[in-house]
Amino acid sequence: MRKELAWLRRGPPARSSKPRFRIDAANSLIEDEPPPRNRLELERFATARLGKDVVDLEHVDLTLGSRTLLDDVTWRLGPGERVGLVGPNGIGKSSVLRLISGDLQPDAGRVKRGRTVDVRYLSQTLGELEPGVRVLDSVRGNELTASKLLESFGFTGDLLTSRIGDLSGGERRRLQLLRLLLEEPNVLLLDEPTNDLDIETLNVLEDYLDDWPGTLIVVSHDRYFLDRVTDVVYAVRAGGRIEMLVQGISGYHAEQRFLGGVHAVEAAEPAPAADEAPSGPSAAEVREARKAMGRIDRRLTRLASRSEELHEQMIESATQYECLAQLQEDLARVQAEREALEEEWLEAAETAGE
Ligand SMILES: Nc1ncnc2c1ncn2[C@@H]1O[C@H](COP(=O)(O)OP(=O)(O)O)[C@@H](O)[C@H]1O
Ligand SMILES: [Mg+2]
Repeated sequence: MRKELAWLRRGPPARSSKPRFRIDAANSLIEDEPPPRNRLELERFATARLGKDVVDLEHVDLTLGSRTLLDDVTWRLGPGERVGLVGPNGIGKSSVLRLISGDLQPDAGRVKRGRTVDVRYLSQTLGELEPGVRVLDSVRGNELTASKLLESFGFTGDLLTSRIGDLSGGERRRLQLLRLLLEEPNVLLLDEPTNDLDIETLNVLEDYLDDWPGTLIVVSHDRYFLDRVTDVVYAVRAGGRIEMLVQGISGYHAEQRFLGGVHAVEAAEPAPAADEAPSGPSAAEVREARKAMGRIDRRLTRLASRSEELHEQMIESATQYECLAQLQEDLARVQAEREALEEEWLEAAETAGE
């Protein structure tokens, strides 16, 4: 469902080139699905918890080394606002988060924080966990919240009494995230969460955020994640501005393509820090992916008619048991191949940026 949606949402121009079968499948999947969250209600909750003032950047200048990252930026974040923050590597996204969390001070202007504001910054480096401690003992705070969170984060049964040192990397990461959420912040800053959280943890986090009444700022290159958890997207621009993207993330990608690629700005910049996302596919990879999409489409069309044929034969031989069994087997194989190809098609479309 997550994939289908991500795929379907890639804007009307791309949609027309999408094979009919995907659109029908996706439409039927999302038909009865309510929107992931109730925006107005969450904002009301957030206002009750946070008051009207959350974090305001006022005429902020920020220079790191010899680079001006922000130049006279005024940006007000309201209660329950859910913001995606995008921009090329090295432009200053993480620095903006660190300004908001108070880890960095502006060179000019000020960062105003509301009185009840409690910010947590999920950066790539989280506090270390004691390897000898058991999962259950590593979790402090409200018992009820803790047990609910442990369960929805998949810490049940034996895992609860496992020592942290025996957890997998993904499980440790998930526990760190859980511990951060248990502190019940009302402003949450996520810095490229899709880089280092596994899919399972991301799913849990997405669901958790659906009814989380706080202000959320997410730095990410992952369109799907941004679409899923935020309501509005801003971009950090060369020249030190922060601008709202009226057309959201798809408008930004179109604009970047127009400007010659998402990585155009970086070319002039020093190498990004080790914590940056890997760069996108090369032009050759995109071409390959487009070709693959065409090939897969053709194969899928053939499989679709093969599947129809098999269905017809099955109806005709409804009383011949052995024949029917054989046809069923064939159909299952065709079905499996279709599914695998559809997966491949999605991956190719991802690479091709469609
Ligand atoms: N402590 C620092 N001293 C000097 N330059 C820094 C420091 N921290 C980050 N930078 C530089 O500031 C720029 C913005 O970094 P960052 O905010 O991490 O960008 P982003 O998160 O958008 O990739 C980068 O060019 C980086 O090299
Ligand atoms: Mg960064």
